[in-house]
Amino acid sequence: MYSIKYLQSLISAEIDEEISRLNQIEPKNLYEPIGYALSMGGKRLRPVMVLLAYNLFDDSVEKAFPAALAIEVFHNFTLLHDDIMDRAEMRRNSLSVYKKYNENIAILSGDAMSIMAYHYLLKCRTSEQGPMIRLFSKTALEVCEGQQYDMDFEGRMDVTISEYLNMIRLKTAVLLACSLKLGALAANAPEKIASQLYDFGLNLGIAFQLQDDLLDVFANQEKFGKKIGGDIVANKKTFLLLKALEISDSRTRAHIQNWILRKEFETEIKIKAITDIYNELEIKNITENCVDEFYQAALNVWEKIELEKEKKSELLQFAKMIMSRDH
Ligand code: IPE
Ligand code: IPE
Ligand code: MG
Ligand code: MG
Ligand code: MG
Repeated sequence: MYSIKYLQSLISAEIDEEISRLNQIEPKNLYEPIGYALSMGGKRLRPVMVLLAYNLFDDSVEKAFPAALAIEVFHNFTLLHDDIMDRAEMRRNSLSVYKKYNENIAILSGDAMSIMAYHYLLKCRTSEQGPMIRLFSKTALEVCEGQQYDMDFEGRMDVTISEYLNMIRLKTAVLLACSLKLGALAANAPEKIASQLYDFGLNLGIAFQLQDDLLDVFANQEKFGKKIGGDIVANKKTFLLLKALEISDSRTRAHIQNWILRKEFETEIKIKAITDIYNELEIKNITENCVDEFYQAALNVWEKIELEKEKKSELLQFAKMIMSRDH
């Protein structure tokens, strides 16, 4: 079993090679933005999850490289379009693709990336290729569903926590779950363990998006790499906002609703006003408890996975690493 660090270095070398290939092909305005997005780094968690799951069953992790690349390119595609949809000008401490180039370029390069993901997957020559492509297609469509709920919720005031959890399961968690299961499928893993890995990834993925919502308000901007307060400005129905609406008294609730309905405002003032309310209501703490609930749910699945200790512990290590993230 390889270490997470080693798997990270393997996939980064693979991604770098793909970036140089993309920088050499035409048309420049289609492929260069893809290289730009991939070269800005990011944590590359999902491709490591593919390799980690594969490595639980087999040491020739290079056989899972195409699936890992597929997942990372697909993930970056969702970010290109997500930044247009969220009007987010900054990602990974750099201009988002639509800001550096333009919206049309970010749309088309994104489209190309989602198609390229299938090209990579087709390079994974295993007997399980069919199931892998089926799982990936299902996941890709679910991400779109989640993204549409996310947008629909911006304009709604009656979103429930359970609707929110379903939305983040779709937009974020299924891709983490799929990453682990793809790696397991590529290694011909027993079906039972493959689906336990999926459930482990799903719970971890929900915890991951809850954290992302938290970091969007409370992170250090330099470290986070995205503009703090973007969710507040866009009236995103995050766990933080829904909880605040739920537990506040009528006066504070009216105050929040007023900010949500306001069409003209100084962004910094709105961010500060809502953050002050979150602080008053101890929303950070409440959200952290919810993150922990899903982490515990992931651990409960982990306990049941029948694998050797040494291998299982690497999975746990990965989950812990995610839980302590600050970006
Ligand atoms: C960002 O994902 C989008 C979410 C699902 C929250 P990451 O936080 O994994 O982004 P990068 O790839 O590391 O930049
Ligand atoms: C992430 O949602 C979901 C997808 C990109 C599919 P966010 O909109 O919260 O992601 P960030 O915060 O912009 O990375
Ligand atoms: Mg966004
Ligand atoms: Mg978004
Ligand atoms: Mg976010």
